[in-house]
Amino acid sequence: MKITDRDYLTKDNFSAPESKRGIFTARVVANEPICKEHNRLALKVDSFPASKPGQFINILCSTSESSYPRVIEQADEGQLIMDKANVLAAPALLRRPFSLAGRRKDNQGAQSVLEIIYRIIGSGTRWLSQLGEGEQVNIIGPLGNGFRTDFLQSETLAVLIGGGTGIAPLMYLASELMLKGQRIKFFVGAASKDILPISKAILEDKQFPIIIAAEDGSAGFKGTVLQAWEDWLGRQSLSPSGIVVYTCGPEVMMREVAQRCIAMGVRCQVSLERIMACGMGICQGCAVKVRTETPPYWQYKLTCTDGPIFDADEVIWQDG
Ligand SMILES: Cc1cc2nc3c(=O)[nH]c(=O)nc-3n(C[C@H](O)[C@H](O)[C@H](O)COP(=O)(O)OP(=O)(O)OC[C@H]3O[C@@H](n4cnc5c(N)ncnc54)[C@H](O)[C@@H]3O)c2cc1C
Ligand code: FES
Repeated sequence: MKITDRDYLTKDNFSAPESKRGIFTARVVANEPICKEHNRLALKVDSFPASKPGQFINILCSTSESSYPRVIEQADEGQLIMDKANVLAAPALLRRPFSLAGRRKDNQGAQSVLEIIYRIIGSGTRWLSQLGEGEQVNIIGPLGNGFRTDFLQSETLAVLIGGGTGIAPLMYLASELMLKGQRIKFFVGAASKDILPISKAILEDKQFPIIIAAEDGSAGFKGTVLQAWEDWLGRQSLSPSGIVVYTCGPEVMMREVAQRCIAMGVRCQVSLERIMACGMGICQGCAVKVRTETPPYWQYKLTCTDGPIFDADEVIWQDG
């Protein structure tokens, strides 16, 4: 399936109710590279519940046969024989979380096409990269809370700041906000243009309000996405109540964005990432420390169910 102009725009109207989620069999309609490091996966699914930008799906990144534990040989002395190649080839037992990077309605009735942008880093994403058109994938979703947009006024400027793979959920947010006629400015950054996970269609779309930052100067602003944003901010005379910032990317980048926003009195939402075993509030493995107003002035929240989107001023950053 080819990406056509404006294909990336959300064509469903999604304002997600809190509780609806389900387990679905999706069919691959596209799985192709969009840059040197990232692939775009499009999954067609029947009756997928309403979703919103910032939510994610949990993908079973193995076939049911390959996800059974392998038989590991035992040597006479009782030692397990498991060499490096065996460990690396092991299938992904647990589902892997991926942000929705877009969603559109298929021509045929209640089917939706969910977009994912992923980077190959281990067994699960390697398995994903080998999926061909028409193959089936088991997914659970939509999960998590999603970005809050209810406080945006018609004249508010929504500023989106994404780094690397963190650009994915902001693509979905950008497309939904644009469809609603919201003013947006979308800063995206990577070390170099050829690892920027943005489709050619968007890069060539003059209407899409995107500012590219490449650290090596291969495109747009030469520097980090933070520097590009700071540079732009320095040339604006915006009142803090006139903008809202949404950010996703490396934690160190989001922390800087958050601190800058707090100092300016600008509302900011961040999309946190933690390693997730269940994605549904069961394993308690994705805890994040947040501020509270009463002693001891902090508590744990779960990134998968209370997040992954948090207000910048409630997050207690990992090394801060
Ligand atoms: C809410 C959420 C949304 C996400 N959205 C996307 C997305 O849109 N696109 C995308 O490419 N990735 C996304 N991720 C990360 C993605 O889930 C991991 O890259 C994936 O699980 C890796 O699986 P794997 O089997 O290929 O690698 P593994 O073999 O599981 O891991 C390879 C290496 O990466 C590390 N790692 C794995 N997951 C994470 C993580 N979450 N944080 C930090 N280090 C990790 C492991 O410790 C290991 O060192 C998201 C994660 C979360 C929590
Ligand atoms: S991933 Fe299991 S509780 Fe969040």
